[in-house]
Amino acid sequence: MIAFLFTLAASFGVSTTGFAQGASLPVDDAGIVSAGESLYKNNCVVCHSVGSDVVVGPGMKGVNERRTQPWLLSWIKNSQALIASGDKDAVAIYNQFNKQAMPSFAFSDEEIVSILTYIKSAESAAAEAPAAGATAAAAPGENVGTDAIGAVGGYLDIILVVLIVVLIVLVVTLLLITSVLKNYLNKNKQLDEYDNEIVNQRFDFSKIYKSKAVRTLVVLIFVVVLIDLTLDKAMGIGIQQGYAPTQPIAFSHKLHAGEHQIDCNYCHTTVYESKSASIPSANICMNCHSQIKAESPEIQKIYKAIERNKPIEWVRIHNLPDLAYFNHSQHTQVGGVECQTCHGPIQEMEVVSQYAPLTMAWCIDCHRETPLNTEGNAYYDNLVKLHESTTKSAFTVSSNGGAECSKCHY
Ligand code: HEC
Ligand code: HEC
Ligand code: HEC
Ligand code: HEC
Ligand code: HEC
Ligand code: HEC
Repeated sequence: MIAFLFTLAASFGVSTTGFAQGASLPVDDAGIVSAGESLYKNNCVVCHSVGSDVVVGPGMKGVNERRTQPWLLSWIKNSQALIASGDKDAVAIYNQFNKQAMPSFAFSDEEIVSILTYIKSAESAAAEAPAAGATAAAAPGENVGTDAIGAVGGYLDIILVVLIVVLIVLVVTLLLITSVLKNYLNKNKQLDEYDNEIVNQRFDFSKIYKSKAVRTLVVLIFVVVLIDLTLDKAMGIGIQQGYAPTQPIAFSHKLHAGEHQIDCNYCHTTVYESKSASIPSANICMNCHSQIKAESPEIQKIYKAIERNKPIEWVRIHNLPDLAYFNHSQHTQVGGVECQTCHGPIQEMEVVSQYAPLTMAWCIDCHRETPLNTEGNAYYDNLVKLHESTTKSAFTVSSNGGAECSKCHY
């Protein structure tokens, strides 16, 4: 008995040390991979791609090789604590990404290992099938669906054009051949009455109409056109996405927020306190531009606006319909959502464009997927307990009523 307990303890000990040293991940266990995939898609995909593209944070490709498993476990549970402890790698990557705090995740070790396993398996899947890898790497954000539809739509257009060209060529050649044959027969052959009738008969449309081949072709073309139109409609839903109007002054976020690292709320002063983010007045520009580049023609436009006592007429990009209520401070200050999650990599944009679709589905999807930060807030204690007694899923924004119509509609 004692021997049995001893072996049990020993094997347990072995397995935990193996685990702590980053033993190989169970990539062959489909259950673990899919559990990891859903955790990843619900919590990480807004900021990380499984490939090497930077979204908000670094691409996850090769992360299991780059870092040890204990490091990854403590990073994902609480990256700020790891940074505060002075861990060299943690501080380095934090600085590299402009000190953007990654949210903490209250996951168990097993859950995190399943995420890492999913990342690992997505990598090997990408290596085996480059085409599948491309879609996996494109995973972040809402764009995937529309991109995929866009690609299919593009192919359909090409197929359509090719079909029409082939058809025209076919008809023309057939007509040429018949006329040549007709001439030949009329000139060189002695035709009896019956043959003569056939050779010189008028063009008979009903025959064409009855022909099976022609019918199938027409139906085929009809179907292709129909699919093409439907896909165009489907893409039209997010029609404002990507909207990037030319602004009256060539103001660059890449230069100001990117290279010169000016804080977003230096200009968008109310974004943490109120409903609206606010667009800076010309006076805020003058804090710097009374000195910097004063002679540049673009900066002269700011001076002119101030002289005439008229605001600069920036073209509005994001605009929800009046029926919807959206509040910035609720998301940025209370929810801790980064600007980039909704607005994309603004600090890299020369001209701002609308990154997210801003549809109702987009709002609600995020509310369903984002765990609510309830830590240290006694108000939530009972709600969370109640939730956990009924279901195993995380306590998300929508568990707290964030999908109720009245929250977003007056
Ligand atoms: C709101 C954005 C955001 C979310 C959500 C997010 N991360 Fe991060 N993550 C970051 C940023 C930004 C960094 C870069 C370091 C920094 O600035 O803190 C990072 C860094 C990392 C790193 C270190 C990468 C390296 O090369 O060392 C790992 C690992 C990581 N994240 C895993 C995850 C996992 C797993 C999830 C989901 C459970 C997740 N992250 C969710 C933003 C995010
Ligand atoms: C130096 C001032 C300044 C800083 C810093 C700045 N912005 Fe802006 N932002 C502007 C101005 C001016 C506009 C209006 C002109 C334009 O769209 O480019 C604007 C427009 C925007 C818009 C589009 C508003 C609309 O019309 O819908 C978004 C979104 C935005 N900023 C986000 C950010 C984020 C996120 C950051 C930080 C990474 C940031 N800004 C930093 C000045 C600034
Ligand atoms: C905190 C300081 C700061 C603020 C505030 C600021 N800028 Fe700038 N701006 C800069 C710096 C620094 C440069 C780069 C100058 C250089 O390239 O030498 C710059 C460059 C520019 C340029 C390019 C000028 C050129 O011809 O190269 C434009 C246009 C501009 N800013 C517009 C604005 C507008 C509009 C605002 C107000 C919404 C604004 N800036 C607010 C610091 C600021
Ligand atoms: C949860 C998503 C979300 C986050 C996070 C977010 N925004 Fe917005 N932002 C929006 C939406 C939606 C609108 C359109 C609001 C409207 O039309 O009423 C918007 C509009 C804006 C505008 C245009 C002016 C206005 O208030 O309508 C600016 C500027 C802006 N955001 C800046 C920022 C900055 C800076 C941050 C980070 C500090 C940020 N946003 C974070 C979703 C977000
Ligand atoms: C990137 C994720 C994300 C997106 C996109 C998003 N939200 Fe939210 N939203 C949150 C989070 C997180 C909270 C919870 C903040 C808190 O109270 O801690 C929240 C809370 C809210 C609340 C308050 C809910 C309550 O229970 O009091 C409203 C209202 C709201 N969001 C409206 C919107 C609207 C409208 C949109 C789309 C235009 C939107 N949100 C898009 C993440 C998001
Ligand atoms: C998290 C925020 C949110 C919640 C919850 C929400 N909506 Fe919306 N809703 C929006 C936004 C944002 C829009 C405008 C975006 C658009 O036009 O796609 C919208 C648009 C609509 C529209 C107009 C659609 C159109 O085509 O113009 C209707 C109707 C609507 N919502 C009904 C509802 C009903 C019913 C519920 C409850 C079951 C609900 N909404 C819950 C955010 C929300």
